[in-house]
Amino acid sequence: VKRFVVCNQKGGVGKTAVTAGVGQALAESPEQLYPVAISKHFAVARTSADPAADVTAVEQLPGPGLRVLLVDFDPQGHLTKQLGHELLHLDGDSLTKHMAGEAKGKLEDLVVAVEDDRFDDRLHLLPSCTDAFLLDVKLSGVRAREAALERALSPIESDYDVIIVDCPPSLGLSMDAAAYYGRRRDAESLGNSGILVVVQAEDSSADAYGLLTNQIDDLRSDMHLELDYLGIVVNHYDARRGYIATSSLDSWMAIRDPRVVGLVGDLKEQKEAVRVKQPLLAYAPQCPQSLALRALAREIA
Ligand SMILES: Nc1ncnc2c1ncn2[C@@H]1O[C@H](COP(=O)(O)OP(=O)(O)O)[C@@H](O)[C@H]1O
Ligand SMILES: [Mg+2]
Repeated sequence: VKRFVVCNQKGGVGKTAVTAGVGQALAESPEQLYPVAISKHFAVARTSADPAADVTAVEQLPGPGLRVLLVDFDPQGHLTKQLGHELLHLDGDSLTKHMAGEAKGKLEDLVVAVEDDRFDDRLHLLPSCTDAFLLDVKLSGVRAREAALERALSPIESDYDVIIVDCPPSLGLSMDAAAYYGRRRDAESLGNSGILVVVQAEDSSADAYGLLTNQIDDLRSDMHLELDYLGIVVNHYDARRGYIATSSLDSWMAIRDPRVVGLVGDLKEQKEAVRVKQPLLAYAPQCPQSLALRALAREIA
């Protein structure tokens, strides 16, 4: 199973939007054609507000038809709510309880389907529960706690082709567990699983990125992990913001390793889809953001 860990301890950059969009794109039906962005430089859609950059062409491709599990690993539960589901009840089982070894039932009983014809029954969600706010405290008493997420998810892994973890905006034990889950396993090929970092095309995002990569470097050396980057997604890109946006996009591109694997414009459809609690690719399947998310999904999967 491919494991994508979507992270950045800065809030509001679009981790949840990217998790949801990539998952939807990968689960779309192989029996239908969908528009996917292609650009001269890398497969992304830029906003048409930047004529010079608007080199995007569109290709019609069949959906990948993969079985996808979205894991809402953020106690705020934005992913759960925007896909039209409820948070799990505090007094029942939850991912946190499974990770802490306190669960009574099976993890698979907590999983729900994200319904739409284009996904058939391939797109599933493990909803969040507010008890995840206590996860770091609970994990401090657990043995081999960095492996807690892996232990919890292992009984259902074989039901999926791809598992995408939407991380909370924090650096702590829960982030360690998520990063550990994304490590390269024995005999797994390079870049099959790993970390997807979502950033914004603005300068304050770069500081947060530095903090995150430091933590990831520490994890790699402390735990002797092979932890790959799937890449950087530059979200909320709006060329009309001028030099701040374009120059900061250039500096993200200049990093090269990890490379920029997606560029998503700042568009109203994302917010509208959240408002009506529908998956973006079902709500606005033809909008530039859906095209860019399909391209991103194909770039990393
Ligand atoms: N590309 C985008 N264009 C417009 N709005 C976006 C975009 N990406 C995210 N948003 C909106 O920005 C807010 C924060 O995004 P979210 O994915 O929740 O960030 P995070 O998970 O990093 O905190 C949400 O209201 C979301 O709908
Ligand atoms: Mg989020």
